[in-house]
Amino acid sequence: MSSESPRRPWVVGVSGASGTPYARAVLTGLLDAGEEVDLVVSRAARLTLIDEVGLSFRDAYWQDDLGSWLGRDTQGVRYWSAADLGAGPASGSYLTRGMVVVPASTAAVAGIAIGLSKDLLQRAADVTLKERRPLVIVPRETPYTRSTLQHLLTLHDAGAILLPASPGFYGAPQSVQQLVDFIAAKVLDAIGVEHDLITRWSGELGAARRDHGDSASAGARK
Ligand SMILES: Cc1cc2nc3c(=O)[nH]c(=O)nc-3n(C[C@H](O)[C@H](O)[C@H](O)COP(=O)(O)O)c2cc1C
Repeated sequence: MSSESPRRPWVVGVSGASGTPYARAVLTGLLDAGEEVDLVVSRAARLTLIDEVGLSFRDAYWQDDLGSWLGRDTQGVRYWSAADLGAGPASGSYLTRGMVVVPASTAAVAGIAIGLSKDLLQRAADVTLKERRPLVIVPRETPYTRSTLQHLLTLHDAGAILLPASPGFYGAPQSVQQLVDFIAAKVLDAIGVEHDLITRWSGELGAARRDHGDSASAGARK
């Protein structure tokens, strides 16, 4: 028998909501922390990747495509086609640490809430819930319909962590990437993965703004 401990990945599901930079930041944060990742990219997410990144994500060339998206090596990543309902994460006996759906479309939110399992992303999320493993969902839509709100509540009651893509501004962000990293940091905090993506709240009002040379308020005065 092998003494090596079994691979225990985080499943990352990228669905077709706007917000592919959030997925990139979470994937990067997990890999930087030395975590293993099982990646599922929905069919609709291929459209947002084309739209937001200019990337055609292909199952057959996932390593090349993921490498150029993340701008780094993809060691530690196992990729599964969203159409592959026989894939590892489709079963509870396949051990994972849990799952992050980032970004989560309202369609994914609905499908997971009702256990639709129309593709591997939704099935893996359903498995994560039934196995009582951590499930973090990062919905991206605005405004919300009543139906989406009901699905979000269902997911909350089922134990998922709902972490909307709504970055805070108390860190005095100087770039879009810092806003993106704010959400990735919240995701990584929620699943207990260490990172240094953000400067944490110090308890002192205005400290982050002063650290940045007060440029935020200077801009506001112009
Ligand atoms: C460019 C583009 C951007 C989209 N942005 C959003 C979005 O922000 N939120 C959302 O819920 N759906 C969005 N959609 C619609 C979803 O992609 C669509 O509902 C799809 O069925 C989701 O499928 P999936 O959950 O399997 O990925 C967008 C679609 C496209 C093509």
